[in-house]
Amino acid sequence: KQVALGVDIGGTNTKFGIVNHRGEVLDKGNLRTDAYDKVEDFIDALYEHVRPMMEKYGTEAHFDGIGVGAPNANYYKGTIELAPNLPWKGVIPFAELMTAKFGLPCTVTNDANAAALGEMLFGAARGMKDFIMITLGTGVGSGIIANGSLIYGHDGFAGELGHTIVKPGGRKHWSTGSEGSLEAYASATGITITAKKMRAEFPESMLNQYPEDEINSKTVYECAMKEDPIAIEVFRYTGQKLGEALANFVMFSSPEAILLFGGVIKAGDFILKPAKLHMERNLLPIFRNKVKLVFSELDEADAAILGASALVWEK
Ligand code: BGC
Ligand code: NA
Repeated sequence: KQVALGVDIGGTNTKFGIVNHRGEVLDKGNLRTDAYDKVEDFIDALYEHVRPMMEKYGTEAHFDGIGVGAPNANYYKGTIELAPNLPWKGVIPFAELMTAKFGLPCTVTNDANAAALGEMLFGAARGMKDFIMITLGTGVGSGIIANGSLIYGHDGFAGELGHTIVKPGGRKHWSTGSEGSLEAYASATGITITAKKMRAEFPESMLNQYPEDEINSKTVYECAMKEDPIAIEVFRYTGQKLGEALANFVMFSSPEAILLFGGVIKAGDFILKPAKLHMERNLLPIFRNKVKLVFSELDEADAAILGASALVWEK
C-alpha cells in the first residue's frame, strides 16, 4: 500500500495528486473549484478526474486514504464551514461525502495547515519546530507550527491569521464583512482592489491600459516589471500591510521562520522587500533580525498535496 490521494482545494483551483510514503508526487492534476456551485457536483467531478489516475496505481484497495486541505476546514470534524471564498455555503460534512464517493477514509484539514505540514516534512521547514506558513492566494491562510506541531486550538479552527485585522476600520471584506483584515489587503483579491483604486487615482499608470476585468495580481506584476511606479506602489503597499501583520504574528509565537506560499509570491521582491522592512520595523528589539522570511521551497501545487497526504498516515 502506502499511496494516498492528496487534494488541495483553493478558492479558484483544486489540485490533486497521488503521493507515496516518501513524499513523491507520482501523478497530479487539477480542476476549477469555482465551476461547481454544489459540493456534490464538485466531488463527482473530482472523482471523474481522479479515477483513471488512481487506476494506474491500483484499485481503492491499494490506497491508504485521502487527505484534503481546504479553506475553513475543521480537522476534528472533517467539515468545511462557511468558507468566505468557496461557492458552497453552510457546514459541509466533506470527509463523509468523500468517503461515500471514493470508498476510502478521508481526513480534512485547513489548506494552509496542510501546506505547513508539507513544508515541515519535505520542504523548507524540515527540522524546524516553530514556524508559520502564510498562503497568499484568493484568500490568505496560515498554518502555525509551535513546539513541533500544528496548532488546532479548542475547536479545530486555529490559525486563521488572514482574518486578523491589520487596519482597524479599514477595507470591508467582500464576504465576511470584517473591516481591515489582512486578507482584504494581501490576497490576490485584495491586490486587485488596491490596483483598481490606485489606477483610478493615477490616470498615467500603465494599469489603465487594461479593461477593468483584467486587473489582477498578474497584470499588476506585468506593469511592475515594466517599471510602472503605480504598479510597484500597489505591491509595496501590499507588502507593508503584510509585514505589519507578520510582526504581530512573530511576537505571538516567536517562529524561526515565516514561509510565504501561493500565487501572490510570484510578485517576488516587489512584495517581499517591503514586507521584511515593515516586519522588522514593528518588532520589539528582542525579535529583530532573527526571523527568516522565505518563500516556500516546494512546487506550489505540491506542498498542500503532500501535507494533506501525510495526514492520512499520521492518523
Ligand atoms: C480562509 C482560510 C484559508 C484561506 C486560504 C481564508 O479565507 O478563511 O481557511 O486557509 O482563505 O485559502
Ligand atoms: Na490554518
